[in-house]
Amino acid sequence: MQYYQTGEHLHAKHAQIYNESGRKLEEWALELVVPTPDARMLDVGCGWGRFSWPLIQRHGVRPANLVCADYSLGMVQSAAVEGRKRGHRPHFVNCGIESLPFADGAFEGVLANHVLYHVEPLAQGVRELARVLRPDGWLMATTNGAVYVPVIDLHYKALDRLAIPYEPEPPGPFTLENGAAILAQSFAQVERYDFVDEVIHGNAAAFTQNYLTIGRYRNVIARDDISAAAKAALPNVFHELATDMVQRHGAIRAPVLMGAFICQGPKT
Ligand SMILES: C[S@@+](CC[C@H](N)C(=O)[O-])C[C@H]1O[C@@H](n2cnc3c(N)ncnc32)[C@H](O)[C@@H]1O
Repeated sequence: MQYYQTGEHLHAKHAQIYNESGRKLEEWALELVVPTPDARMLDVGCGWGRFSWPLIQRHGVRPANLVCADYSLGMVQSAAVEGRKRGHRPHFVNCGIESLPFADGAFEGVLANHVLYHVEPLAQGVRELARVLRPDGWLMATTNGAVYVPVIDLHYKALDRLAIPYEPEPPGPFTLENGAAILAQSFAQVERYDFVDEVIHGNAAAFTQNYLTIGRYRNVIARDDISAAAKAALPNVFHELATDMVQRHGAIRAPVLMGAFICQGPKT
């Protein structure tokens, strides 16, 4: 995935979300579990380390006990750079969730956050997560819930205006709504916790910059059945729609629905 070649885009996106809202998913989610300094932990699909650094800095997990793993080598390298900036040296591994290069029961805690919707085959990935956990260990898996997302709404409105055709989207493969049933195939106990918030975007230009980072926009730009002129016009039309919304409502209000599954009792 081009977008995940390094941590640059993801880090910028996270920084922007939090500038506007203030509450941090990772700080909220890590309060749901009790990592001990001696626990061996795995953060897989770690990205630039959004969850790894608070594990060390706020929860006292020893870097030597933490493995940060990601399918993208560039992402692992970005995480290593971030770690060095903070003076932390956890272990870094370049691997996919579908086939984890760790022994059975190697970890007391595993994080697979905002990543399971990428994993194929998903059931195999979830079995792998269960396999590498100790019988008394826990898995945290965060994801998104079904909620009105203005950036996506305006994206489709912009496509309509430019008469760019698109297919209706199927439901996500791993969401807050369908995730518990998938995890229950490999865990005896699955609990869902919701993170509800609102992000208020007052600046249409910044909102449009954020739009340029989302997968749906990048997918349209990568299509070869669309003219260069229509692709070039897309950000401008999006910006017009965003400006109109800000003028009419004073801001673009984006409800946030994300959440975490905490799973115990890995089935072997
Ligand atoms: C949305 S980011 C989430 C990163 C981080 N967990 C967070 O919450 O900020 C998804 C990450 O999962 C990685 N990824 C995608 N598919 C993967 C797979 N099958 N196994 C491991 N990592 C994967 C991507 O490279 C990317 O770094």
